Amino acid sequence: MALVDIIAGARPNFMKIAPIIKAIDSLKANNKLTYRLIHTGQHYDAKMSGDFFEQLGIPKPSINLEVGSGTQAEQTAAIMISYEKVLLKSASDLCLVVGDVTSTMACAITAQKLCIPVAHVEGGIRSGDWTMPEEINRLVTDAISSFFFTTSAFANANLKKVGVRQEQIFFVGNTMIDTLMETSERMTPPDFWEMLSLEPKNYFLLTLHRPHNVDEISTLSALLNKICESARGKNVVFPIHPRTAKVLDNVSSIPDNLCLVEPQPYLQFGYLAKNTKAVITDSGGVTEEATVNGVPCITLRDSTERPETVEIGTNELIGTNIKNIKSAFELIFSGHWKKGSIPEMWDGKTGYRIARILETIL
Ligand code: UD1
Repeated sequence: MALVDIIAGARPNFMKIAPIIKAIDSLKANNKLTYRLIHTGQHYDAKMSGDFFEQLGIPKPSINLEVGSGTQAEQTAAIMISYEKVLLKSASDLCLVVGDVTSTMACAITAQKLCIPVAHVEGGIRSGDWTMPEEINRLVTDAISSFFFTTSAFANANLKKVGVRQEQIFFVGNTMIDTLMETSERMTPPDFWEMLSLEPKNYFLLTLHRPHNVDEISTLSALLNKICESARGKNVVFPIHPRTAKVLDNVSSIPDNLCLVEPQPYLQFGYLAKNTKAVITDSGGVTEEATVNGVPCITLRDSTERPETVEIGTNELIGTNIKNIKSAFELIFSGHWKKGSIPEMWDGKTGYRIARILETIL
């Protein structure tokens, strides 16, 4: 039986691994695959990690590297040192990493240097923006991965451009969307829903955590003011990422219609994202969910590694200039935002496809 290390470290990883784990468990009787779930501990709060395990039915990790916070280099180094010890004590047959967080890159390097093949779920996507740590993580991970499970034709083309062979690429769809579809019926309003008198399609949902948007008090403050002004008095629900919270503590005036709430568990965030009038975000995953929910999505970035959310879905990149915010909201209020459709293979069966392919290649 082949042993796969499944790596998860930060919040956006958890919804991506859940369907893969479920699929491997469902194929247990074949006696071909088994796994070891490794949590690096990059995210460690209940609100950033534990709640997701519980709501998504992810088993307790076999190993927690408990690396915690640090600079990019400190986190990378700490994960590599700890994961190498695990592998030296007991090697696996394949290291499966997902997404683009620091844990993804650090574990991929560690495994491949010990000649353990690496499979990258969500391989091949590119924003072209090297100021984002995630883009560096994608480039490095893809440069040394052995197999690629991809979400789009765009990702496939990017990999081929740099010489990856067709037989290394498996176009399987999007595991994050598996989770979205599987949990859709279980999504429930957060406890503040009634307190804030929220109603479907009568509020906006905001998420911001990119250094470019949140690290400077003046930038963050100007963004929040413009968004709330453009929302014409409707509530703007803002679950605050810990990185943003640190800066927000020093912002002197908060608009009246900005509802600051803690990072939300998966099922409550999902409920907010499904029922909102529109999402305003600088995240990548949130744009994919908006596309599948058919909800208008304004992205405060100049580039995206997920162009299908713009070309096929409901997402528009308006850049980071606050001057563009008002007109985007006007388009939403006028009811003329594009409708969008769902990208190929985003059908809720990606985890199963991945597990079947792993059975074959191992
Ligand atoms: C990371 C990912 C990013 C992802 C984001 C989602 C990288 C390079 N970035 O960014 O792709 O979109 O997660 O959340 O991997 N913190 C807590 N509690 C936690 C985790 C973090 O308070 O459970 C604090 C840290 O101490 C730090 C800040 O939040 O001050 C940022 O955390 P970090 O893991 O460094 O990166 P993110 O900005 O969360």
